[in-house]
Amino acid sequence: MIKKGGYYYPTKEFKKRAWINKSSVYKEAKKNPVLFWEKLAKEIFWRKKWKKVFSHRPPYFKWFSGGKLNITENCLDKNLEERKNKVALIWEPEPVEERERVLTYYDLYRQVNKFANALKKLGVKKRDRVGIYLPMIPEAIISMLACARIGAVHTVVFSAFSPTALRIRLQDTQAKILITADGYYRRGQIINLKQNADKGIKETKVRKLIVVQRAGNEISWKANKDVWYEDLVKNEKDFCPAEVMDSEELLFVLYTSGSTGRPKGTTHVCGGYSVQAKFTGKWIFDLHEDDIFWSMADIGWITGHTYTCYSPLLNGITFIIFEGAPDWPTPDRWAQIIEKYGVTTFYTAPTAIRMFAKYNGKIAKKYKLDSLQILGSVGEPIDESAWQWYFREVGEKKCPIVDTWWQTETGGILITSLPGIGPFKPAFTGLPFPGIKFDIFNGEGESLSPRKVGDLVLLPPFAPGLLRGVYKNPKKYLKTYWSQYGRKIYFTSDAAFKDKKGLIRIVGRVDDVIKVAGHRLTTGELEAAINLHPNVTECAVVGIPDKIKGEVPVAFVVSKKLPEARPLAILKKEIVDQVKKEIGPIALPKKVFIVKDLPKTRSGKIMRRILKRLFTGEKLGDLSTLANPGTVKEIKKCLKVGDKRS
Ligand code: PRX
Repeated sequence: MIKKGGYYYPTKEFKKRAWINKSSVYKEAKKNPVLFWEKLAKEIFWRKKWKKVFSHRPPYFKWFSGGKLNITENCLDKNLEERKNKVALIWEPEPVEERERVLTYYDLYRQVNKFANALKKLGVKKRDRVGIYLPMIPEAIISMLACARIGAVHTVVFSAFSPTALRIRLQDTQAKILITADGYYRRGQIINLKQNADKGIKETKVRKLIVVQRAGNEISWKANKDVWYEDLVKNEKDFCPAEVMDSEELLFVLYTSGSTGRPKGTTHVCGGYSVQAKFTGKWIFDLHEDDIFWSMADIGWITGHTYTCYSPLLNGITFIIFEGAPDWPTPDRWAQIIEKYGVTTFYTAPTAIRMFAKYNGKIAKKYKLDSLQILGSVGEPIDESAWQWYFREVGEKKCPIVDTWWQTETGGILITSLPGIGPFKPAFTGLPFPGIKFDIFNGEGESLSPRKVGDLVLLPPFAPGLLRGVYKNPKKYLKTYWSQYGRKIYFTSDAAFKDKKGLIRIVGRVDDVIKVAGHRLTTGELEAAINLHPNVTECAVVGIPDKIKGEVPVAFVVSKKLPEARPLAILKKEIVDQVKKEIGPIALPKKVFIVKDLPKTRSGKIMRRILKRLFTGEKLGDLSTLANPGTVKEIKKCLKVGDKRS
């Protein structure tokens, strides 16, 4: 990479290889973004061509309406023509002594078809929702594709989510089938996933639990409900006709945290998503035939959907999925995997990069990482020092870092500089993808000039993969995305600013969402979990900056119902356990403070901003609106007594 005045650019040799290396692509796309996307759409396989590329009845919009396709024909059948025996998927299990599994495109094709047939036999039909609660094993990818094959709508629930979190999602989608596993490995332990699934399906419509055998752990079994995956697929035919889907029909529902307690199901449709997933992957990761792509994201998150599953397949490349934690059993496991398979493109989150940097220092001296061509980052802002370490020590100053901004809602990456063009600048995510129009608004909807922080908004024609709704909750869809600046402007809930070259820097969320190790949570859902504890009167959760995880939750709890004799330490532990039970281990508060009262305005609104500043030691600002200013002193005392660094 070449450095020029704070910006980095690709070298001539790098440009030569890149699919996209001329900035004219931006100009052309800007002239007519609809035509731009249409050109790309022509490069995927459709059963029937669309009638209209983009239609817009604010806030609703459609892409490629009238077009018909099935994403699995693009991911599988199409690849059989040229890549039948090419490796599609390499699975790296967590235990180091266990062998990897390798599936060619033909293997994957047959397994998906068999499972699709099995699902049909169980009565799954087009539009039915199917829950997937699986660890990172090949069957996770197979299950998503098998659903898509028959037009069933998959709804993946992160395997580390608690039974309660699973239940909420299954209840919302009314799924009748859940695909899970007996167990999986996590940091050397076997997690009994089947047990969590059994608990999670209580009070839902799930009538069949399909269980993949993975860890061989002991599980309970209900003969009328449970069925082994292996038994189901054993005698199935390896061809299942792909259901012909309308471009605007549902492909999947994926839940994410919004500004209130309950997660919302973002809905994604077949046509636009396929086009965006294919070309953002191809251009941003510059995917070529001989690439080995490793996206570390779990399929439980949108990055796992688009770049661990669909995009690599749509581009016919070889990709890795990894069951374990990247720092287990040693902090350099991730580097071992890069070396073992000669990974060319590595996609991870700043939290992981900061952790790698902390434990690994000069990693390239220990492992051969020179296969790497492009490095990616996603999910939270990457600070300059993490960026520099990644650039210097992992990419050895030759790999562009594509810092990719997007959301569960956008379906695919929307902001990042392209590797064959640049420029790249530490801590800036980059330029909007060609054909994508962003602006930064002040509260009045006026465009802000460079360096001024405001709301990041997406303008028409949006993006083909942008969500079409919130599952069964049209009001929430309107309110969350289309109410701040009217029905024609999508509000991202992020604050950002541009530099003089138009590169965008993300400042952070403007709502109650916090990003903990890149995972999206809201303070509201944590508070709802904590409030379920019988000794809790009320509480407030705030996100606090953390050196490794970016942000961590800290809880302030009022307990007027606590019996005198009950030690606070027990209550605090129970509160942490409560969060684990309701949401999962990713959401655990780093600290719990038991306080007498919470700072509130006269209208009773909790001032979380003050709590956050009290913790971080920032200036508190104007306290005149507080109804109970005395609490501030109390809480200060409390923070001094409790060790806030633990
Ligand atoms: O605040 C932005 C942050 O993550 C949010 C979306 O979270 P989620 O739906 O979980 O999707 C994450 C993976 C696509 C955004 O509103 N975010 C995402 N990518 C970046 C980012 N913040 C800064 N830089 C990024 N590259």
